[in-house]
Amino acid sequence: MAAQINPSILSADFARLAQEARAVEGADWLHVDVMDNHFVPNLTLGAPVVEALRKATDTPLDCHLMIEEPDRWAPQYVEAGAGSVTFHAEAAAAPVRLAREIRAQGARASMALKPATPIEPYEDLLPELDMLLVMTVEPGFGGQAFLDIMLPKIRRTRQLIDKHGLQMWLQVDGGVSASTIERCAEAGADVFVAGSAVYGADDPAAAVRGLRQQAES
Ligand code: DX5
Ligand code: ZN
Repeated sequence: MAAQINPSILSADFARLAQEARAVEGADWLHVDVMDNHFVPNLTLGAPVVEALRKATDTPLDCHLMIEEPDRWAPQYVEAGAGSVTFHAEAAAAPVRLAREIRAQGARASMALKPATPIEPYEDLLPELDMLLVMTVEPGFGGQAFLDIMLPKIRRTRQLIDKHGLQMWLQVDGGVSASTIERCAEAGADVFVAGSAVYGADDPAAAVRGLRQQAES
């Protein structure tokens, strides 16, 4: 599969969200980080802002829910217009039921793992998911350094996906930049979230194209 680049609006100017969303047209998805001050020590935005973003751009929205009780709240994000919803394995009470609910609503269902959460206990759940997100920083903030120690987990996850013959995507998020994306791609990731590497660039759209080219090289 071709590499997909998902700019994270966490690194954008929140006072100019519509323009910032449009500044990365050509990206595959717009990554929207939802934080609740409980699951992670930061607070960002909720479903009303997702709904507004939906109207501001044609780029599909990839919502990354870093929140407690995703079983309760995730469906709201599909209703708000997300085409893909990622909940955290550590927070979900019933991940299979939740993934089925998200799919039944018509969105892609995805599950994320914090750095200390292994993939192995979730092997049998993979067919229920459209994407698995391996976090390459501790979730909560943009601009953190990429954790090289996550490369073996990316590799093991790719092996499990291939072993089961699944078409699901493997996303990485955190510290992905021109200097780390090739390592992620080589380990088997095919969907790349990039916040500071895109919005910190003078030309965010060009940064997206550059990252995609590197990931596919
Ligand atoms: C971190 C968020 C990421 C963040 C990535 O908790 O989930 O999506 O925006 O930002 P960078 O690419 O700057 O590490
Ligand atoms: Zn994220």
